[in-house]
Amino acid sequence: MSYDPSSGRYDTMQYNRCGKSGLMLPAISLGLWHNFGSVDVFENGRAIVHRAFDHGITHFDLANNYGPLPGSAEENFGIILKKDFGGNLRDEMIISSKAGYLMWPGPYGNWGSRKYLIASCEQSLRRMQIDYVDIFYSHRPDPDTDIEETMGALDYLVRQGKALYVGISNYPAKQAAKAIEILKRLGTPCVIHQPKYSMLERWVENGLLDVLEENGVGCIPFSPLAQGLLTDRYLKGIPEGSRAANTHGFLKKDEITEEKLAIIKALNEIAQERSQSLAQMAIAWLLKDKRITSVLIGASSVAQLDNNLGALGNLKFEKEELERIEKVLG
Ligand SMILES: NC(=O)c1ccc[n+]([C@@H]2O[C@H](COP(=O)([O-])OP(=O)(O)OC[C@H]3O[C@@H](n4cnc5c(N)ncnc54)[C@H](OP(=O)(O)O)[C@@H]3O)[C@@H](O)[C@H]2O)c1
Repeated sequence: MSYDPSSGRYDTMQYNRCGKSGLMLPAISLGLWHNFGSVDVFENGRAIVHRAFDHGITHFDLANNYGPLPGSAEENFGIILKKDFGGNLRDEMIISSKAGYLMWPGPYGNWGSRKYLIASCEQSLRRMQIDYVDIFYSHRPDPDTDIEETMGALDYLVRQGKALYVGISNYPAKQAAKAIEILKRLGTPCVIHQPKYSMLERWVENGLLDVLEENGVGCIPFSPLAQGLLTDRYLKGIPEGSRAANTHGFLKKDEITEEKLAIIKALNEIAQERSQSLAQMAIAWLLKDKRITSVLIGASSVAQLDNNLGALGNLKFEKEELERIEKVLG
């Protein structure tokens, strides 16, 4: 398979400013947490990356541990970059990685020490065969490491030229505010926060989004489709090959309760009345808030990606539609 990017790749995507920074991100970004590991079909992942780039998705999100096996998503993405994104195409891409969860044995392969973050970023660059990442994240707060040390490591990576921007992920509002303040003082502003946020998981609405807005920090919600629950995937049971059916998938069968299915079915009806798929409505629902820079989706096929991109066709909600959604979500 050879790849020649579409000349119309910037025609339909919307780009949003990431907080107060100079960085613009596509309204929809692609995450490589699932479907790009050594257990997955390489050519399928490669086709998804091509389709994404052809439709203006310039931002690809990774982390050291994505796979399985951990590290293999970065390795596979590196191969795709090398094979298909030569010339100056790297300059059209925003590639992120992270460290914070368990990656290697011993005391230096987990959490938020300077030792771990700096060594892990080096490893990610080697796996992806690139000189720098565009965004490097602290993947989660570390209760046992001084937050000054973790933020100092992010600042150091930027000064070394290994990351252009830095971000934080999974930090609750109070810790996010502290991290943002420290990074500002160090002269390496925090440009983005990556929290879990969807119609089914709304903790960010209780303070975090306000902190980000006050400080001019962008927001890129992960698992916007609740790992597939907010789509038509599970409306008629658990299909073979779905994330919930796969042993290595992070969505567990027991998370698909009758109660949730009733909510999903009711939301699906509203989506149909809007002439949208439920996935499209779930993405649009997040993007209606101007504090949301980009929505970070996953996809196991080109068809799913196409469907999700269709969200951009209708991002508007009538007041009455929003009220109905609130009622369903309780
Ligand atoms: N910072 C963090 O701690 C953290 C944690 C988790 C994720 N993330 C990031 O967020 C990204 C997205 O997370 P996610 O994969 O959980 O996002 P998601 O968009 O909520 O779920 C993606 C999954 O939903 C299903 N799906 C997607 N589009 C569909 C459609 N149109 N119709 C039917 N099913 C559809 C697919 O599952 P099937 O496999 O069943 O087809 C797909 O793999 C990750 O890749 C990663 O970059 C970050």
